[in-house]
Amino acid sequence: MAKLTTVLSILATLPLISSSILPIKHKQLPLSDDDDNDTPLPLIIWHGLGDNYAADGLAEIASLAEDVNPGTLTYIIRIDDDASADRSATFFGNLTLQIEKVCADLTAHPILSTAPAVDALGFSQGGQFLRGYIERCNFPPVRSLVTFGSQHNGISEFQKCGSTDFLCRGAQGLLRSSTWSAFVQSRLVPAQYFRDPNQYEQYLEFSNFLADINNEREVKNQTYKENLEKLERFVMYVFEDDETVIPKETSWFAEVNGTDVTLLRDRAIYKEDWLGLKTLDKKGALKFEMTAGGHMSLSDNLLKKVFSDNYGPYGRKLGGSEQSKEDL
Ligand SMILES: *[C@@H]1O[C@H](CO)[C@@H](O)[C@H](O)[C@H]1NC(C)=O
Ligand SMILES: *[C@@H]1O[C@H](CO)[C@@H](O)[C@H](O)[C@H]1NC(C)=O
Ligand SMILES: *[C@@H]1O[C@H](CO)[C@@H](O)[C@H](O)[C@H]1NC(C)=O
Repeated sequence: MAKLTTVLSILATLPLISSSILPIKHKQLPLSDDDDNDTPLPLIIWHGLGDNYAADGLAEIASLAEDVNPGTLTYIIRIDDDASADRSATFFGNLTLQIEKVCADLTAHPILSTAPAVDALGFSQGGQFLRGYIERCNFPPVRSLVTFGSQHNGISEFQKCGSTDFLCRGAQGLLRSSTWSAFVQSRLVPAQYFRDPNQYEQYLEFSNFLADINNEREVKNQTYKENLEKLERFVMYVFEDDETVIPKETSWFAEVNGTDVTLLRDRAIYKEDWLGLKTLDKKGALKFEMTAGGHMSLSDNLLKKVFSDNYGPYGRKLGGSEQSKEDL
């Protein structure tokens, strides 16, 4: 049980979640109700597992957003102001509390809270967490949500870890040891979106995050559906050769049971519209996209296209309305 003890000692040293707001480094941009206002909506980004909000790659993406839609204020979501604690929080923590903290931070943010809406970009697990934010709080409200390689229908296996990545390996050991225990469900982030169709009863009973935000339990939360239906865009990207996310089809909200893939439109969650996904689809707001390469292989060109099609000024007509690619 070496791994478990390692993880426990890490858990013991994790700082308490801080609720302080970072000073804003960007210049303040006026957002008025003026119809002619072409100031782009602010962009919020939620990074993935093992990343931290201060990473160079995220700053580069923020600057790309600014190139495409000049004047974009980008806020990179963080659970902790300390970058290394923010990385730890991608592995460890109770997602209910993490999302509550993000809700509180965004609501209290002097600029984001006064914008008519924001756009959102979710990388990997950050995608389903942003969806959780929208369903549970949505203030400021999100206009366009774009997710890349996110685990909307959960994972049925924990990702491979680098041999020296002991946080990752510790998390993996903990997940395998007792996925459904309250101990693991309240502390290990990926366990809270673990969803193996062969353990569906346990998932429904014990999942601390995904079974709830996916409205899979008997009692559906109407607010979740209403909030998600307010999106003008929900774009889900799958990485064609994703080997990190198992199964990769989860990024399109599909269900994989053994070798059977059930696409979202054939699932009860859609047909009975537990989450408003069908409503979004009927108004042309739901997009299934695929891009080449492995998990998180993002090119600047792809990001530029995404930013130009889905983000920008409030009230603009959103672009990129080509045929949905679900039957690829
Ligand atoms: C539904 O979700 C909202 C937002 O998180 C919450 O305030 C409300 O209590 C939930 N309703 C039920 C019935 O759980
Ligand atoms: C996570 O935190 C919430 C809010 O404090 C709590 O209600 C829930 O029981 C916690 N989850 C687990 C699995 O302990
Ligand atoms: C997945 O497949 C197994 C074995 O065929 C079956 O027992 C189980 O009910 C399926 N689960 C779902 C959610 O369809």
